[in-house]
Amino acid sequence: MTDHSRMCAFFQLEDVSMLRKIVLALAFMMPVMANAQVPQLREDNVDEVLKAMTLHEKARLVVGTGWGSMFGVGLLNADPVEVRGAAGMTRSVKRLGVPSVVMADGPAGLRIMPGRSKRYCTGFPVGTLLACSWDTALVQEVGAAMGQEVLEYGVDIILAPGMNLMRNPLCGRNFEYYSEDPLLTGKIAAAMIRGIQSQGVGTSAKHFAANSQETNRTGNNAIVEEDVLRALYLKGFEIAVREAQPWTIMSSYNKLNGPYTQEDKWLLTDVLRDEWGFEGLVMTDWTSPRNTPAQIAAGNDLMEPGFKKQINQIVKAVKNGELDEALLDVCAKRVLELVVKTPRFHGYQYSNQPDLKSHAEVSRRAAADGMVLLENRSALPLQGVKKVALLGVGSYDIIAGGTGSGNVNKPYVVNLMDGLKNAGIAVDEGAAADYLKYISHNSNRKKGYVMVGKAAWKEKAVPVAQIKSLAMNNDAAVITIIRQAGEGEDRSVNDDFCLDETELALIGDVCREFHAVGKKVTVVLNIGGVVETASWKLLPDAILVAWGCGQEGGNAIADVLTGAVNPSGRLSMTFPLAYEDVPSSANFPIGKKEVIKDVMSTATGASKDKGRKDVDYTVYEEGMNVGYRYFGLDGAKVSYPFGYGLSYTTFSKEELEDGSVIVTNTGARSGREVVMRFENGILSAFAKTRLLAPGESETLKF
Ligand code: GLC
Repeated sequence: MTDHSRMCAFFQLEDVSMLRKIVLALAFMMPVMANAQVPQLREDNVDEVLKAMTLHEKARLVVGTGWGSMFGVGLLNADPVEVRGAAGMTRSVKRLGVPSVVMADGPAGLRIMPGRSKRYCTGFPVGTLLACSWDTALVQEVGAAMGQEVLEYGVDIILAPGMNLMRNPLCGRNFEYYSEDPLLTGKIAAAMIRGIQSQGVGTSAKHFAANSQETNRTGNNAIVEEDVLRALYLKGFEIAVREAQPWTIMSSYNKLNGPYTQEDKWLLTDVLRDEWGFEGLVMTDWTSPRNTPAQIAAGNDLMEPGFKKQINQIVKAVKNGELDEALLDVCAKRVLELVVKTPRFHGYQYSNQPDLKSHAEVSRRAAADGMVLLENRSALPLQGVKKVALLGVGSYDIIAGGTGSGNVNKPYVVNLMDGLKNAGIAVDEGAAADYLKYISHNSNRKKGYVMVGKAAWKEKAVPVAQIKSLAMNNDAAVITIIRQAGEGEDRSVNDDFCLDETELALIGDVCREFHAVGKKVTVVLNIGGVVETASWKLLPDAILVAWGCGQEGGNAIADVLTGAVNPSGRLSMTFPLAYEDVPSSANFPIGKKEVIKDVMSTATGASKDKGRKDVDYTVYEEGMNVGYRYFGLDGAKVSYPFGYGLSYTTFSKEELEDGSVIVTNTGARSGREVVMRFENGILSAFAKTRLLAPGESETLKF
């Protein structure tokens, strides 16, 4: 019923006095007339719309709509939840034609609630695996596939990439991050951002900055000398901003040299914008109200998930002169500039049917190309192997990715048993039956804190007698070792960084019994972060790091084990001989169970500073001594050095005058090579060849 027809109906009515009729008619006319006067948001009239906004409307605009959408329910008088399971939304200002926009996690794929319409999203490999591919073109392709799902499921911004530097191997979120080196981090992140944004949706490079531990992350004060901060912890973000201009940056939970990053004008305005030329918006990581006016003043444009009280805080602060309204205008304008870029603003009719089938193929190919072959004593690719003894509980329940906001609601995960069968390799049915029975009981999962997703399994012991029998009845053995990691908790040394007794016994027994009958053993590390390898790595004949390998993980591992894919991954971080060798281990919160308090402090926005070393404050005493900058590249002092990785073929490299390199495949199998350039021992450039057939060459330019 149009406004006009309603008015006509009124004038037909008998029981309403003429005066009231005129008043009511005017009441109908006002919005129509008013709308006729107030500007409606377009891409080219942001300043005009900003000028037309009331103080309250501007305060609303910079505060998200709350936790509701994450749990699929709209909050009272907030905007209706557009996409169930999305992490957050901005608020609309209907009077001025400003729609709300939708943000959802995460770095390994879009995370929304599948619901009855089964809106599953592709589980891509985790960030660490992508970085180990050293292949920016591949990462950009993964980003484009991910971005297409963001677009077609009606989301405007995906809260990715996660790109904090791996300061310490035990940070619980390292799986979501890329490397111990800022150049590799920045280049991979820029590729991911370009890929995602090529689909017309936005990204949020996170967590800015120096969010290097999960323990007490909402209260921890990272104390870092400025030259180290810039060269290591900011450099990756700087490269990503300068090369890819992410639509948004997410300011981190932690403090940095005193102030919260979310209130730090030096970080968010002087460095990020004035020095680096960042043109987008800064949103907070998901925390409860802190000092909202200070956040606005620092250039933190959007509070997420957002609470109504923050709107009132802002209005009050402007009114009492605590907050200059011009600073609020700067933030509100950036929200409007973000909104007008979004598919939702442009009325994109999303299909809810992204091309999951082709994305699964991208996920599988990417997974195989980011896996790293650490050992191979004539065991791989599997030759003349018809049936394997497939051991390790992870073989039957692959860890596709990490837990927490980085989890993805995937349509399926291919385990290694099915991956091998798909590749035409049978597995020992007896062993398989034992493991499948074992993983049917959740009581066999590890205890521990998991924010979103599932804890890993405790390893199952296998009696020696059974291993002897397996050695007789199978052509080879494959053992998968798994590690789960996730947001909100850091890892520990015992039974996490180090393998536990059951795992070591399994590897030892299987190697002894299979070698006794001249058969080979391969260990697959399906892990979220670095583990101890030196004490056992000479026992098996091959070791393949599969990382969190996405929903097609089992197929991708089988592709590498069978030689369908020649592994070309190289480590993006150092595998030390022992955790204690890591310089930052002297200033890292091992085993300090502040996690639960941390979760509460996330909810409350800040934890109480009790002056606890490595919990309330962490001094980055190691300075530049992170990873290969300390251990070097020759491997002498580590188990496996940064940049390490084997291939099924060999390559020669010829340096040319102009600095380019001719790479030739001198082996018998097609393969890809990564060439890295170092200046004064620091990574300065890298490039990866296409697939080179035996004898084929490619000239790489830097
Ligand atoms: C989480 C994470 C962040 C995520 C956000 C929304 O706590 O720290 O990475 O994007 O909140 O889920």
